[in-house]
Parts: sequence; C-alpha cells; structure tokens
Amino acid sequence: MYFAEENERLKKIVRRIAERSPAEVTPRPVDALVYSVVRASSPERVLELGAYEGTTSLYIAQGLVDEENGKLVAVEVDGSSAKGARKHVEEAGVADRVEVVVEDSRDYVPTLDGVFDLVFVSTPPGQHAADYENVRRLLAEGGFLCIDNADRSEAVERARDDGLDVLEFDDWSFALAQN
Ligand SMILES: C[S@@+](CC[C@H](N)C(=O)[O-])C[C@H]1O[C@@H](n2cnc3c(N)ncnc32)[C@H](O)[C@@H]1O
Repeated sequence: MYFAEENERLKKIVRRIAERSPAEVTPRPVDALVYSVVRASSPERVLELGAYEGTTSLYIAQGLVDEENGKLVAVEVDGSSAKGARKHVEEAGVADRVEVVVEDSRDYVPTLDGVFDLVFVSTPPGQHAADYENVRRLLAEGGFLCIDNADRSEAVERARDDGLDVLEFDDWSFALAQN
C-alpha cells in the first residue's frame, strides 16, 4: 500500500524525465524489481553506476527510506545529468539517503573501500566489462548485482563465469545476479 502511494509520486517525476529523453531511462519494471530487491535484502550500502537524472536512484532510495536503512552512492559522469539527479531525489524527499558523485565510474570505483550489498550497473554497455572488473571485489558475499542493457553487456557472462547466480529478464534487457 505504502509503495503504491509512493509509486504514484515517483512515477510523476520519472514520466517527466522519460518524456524528455526516453532512450536514457531504464524500463519501469526494472525500477519495481530493484525496489523489491532493496526491500527484500535491506542493503547497507548501494552503488549505482550511470545514474542519469536519477530515475532508478529514486526507487532504490525509496526502498532505503522504507527500510529505514542504508545509503546509495549514485555515480554519474555528466555534470548536468548529475544536477538533475540531485534535484529529483530532493523533490522526491529521499535525498538524505543519496550521495550523487560526478565522476567517471572507471576512475572512481577503484578508489572505493569496503563492500556494497547491491550494485546497479547502468553505464553504456561498452563499459560494462571494465565496470564489472572494478565492482567485483566490492560486492558483498550474498550481495546483488543488477545489470542494465543485459543483452549487450559483457558483465552478464563474466558474472556467470565467476560463479554468480544470474537471472536474465529478456523483455527488459536486465539481469539480476547474486554473489
Ligand atoms: C542509460 S543511462 C542510465 C539510466 C539510469 N540509470 C536510469 O535509471 O534511468 C546511462 C548513463 O551513464 C552515464 N555514463 C556514461 N559513462 C559513464 C561513466 N564512465 N561513469 C559514470 N556514468 C557514465 C551517462 O552519462 C548516462 O547518464
């Protein structure tokens, strides 16, 4: 019930972003699935690579708010998109759960310490192999790896080769893996 109400509020923001740039935003069922993964696993630390204007960030952060636990680090290389992401998480009232970092994921991720319970890779698929290699060491035991544009992502096969359990959702071109 609570999610249904929040969903309407977030949906309005996402619809506005999608009307402007439909190709950039993640398919909506992915947001619902990622929200559910957050609720089911109550992660302490979440990392998103390629946040654009924060559409999936909103749903991850809403999950963290509803769990009353955890923080999201959302990495976006483009300054103006990152500004949009900050604006949108504030508008949605979930900003205290989110840090938006303006960096190239390939430079930034290697500087991170500790582990993340959930990592969402949403950079362009040509970069997924590099992002995967960088996030691999940061993924907690039992942690979740979400891969956007899975049909074009090398990360999916690499995750399988590394022994992660991988579920592919072909209609949304999305993959969910568990370490
Ligand atoms: C498909 S969009 C992300 C969609 C978004 N996650 C969503 O929920 O709708 C890809 C984003 O990755 C960003 N990006 C591209 N290369 C990047 C990099 N090396 N590091 C961080 N962000 C990057 C782009 O600027 C763009 O905003």
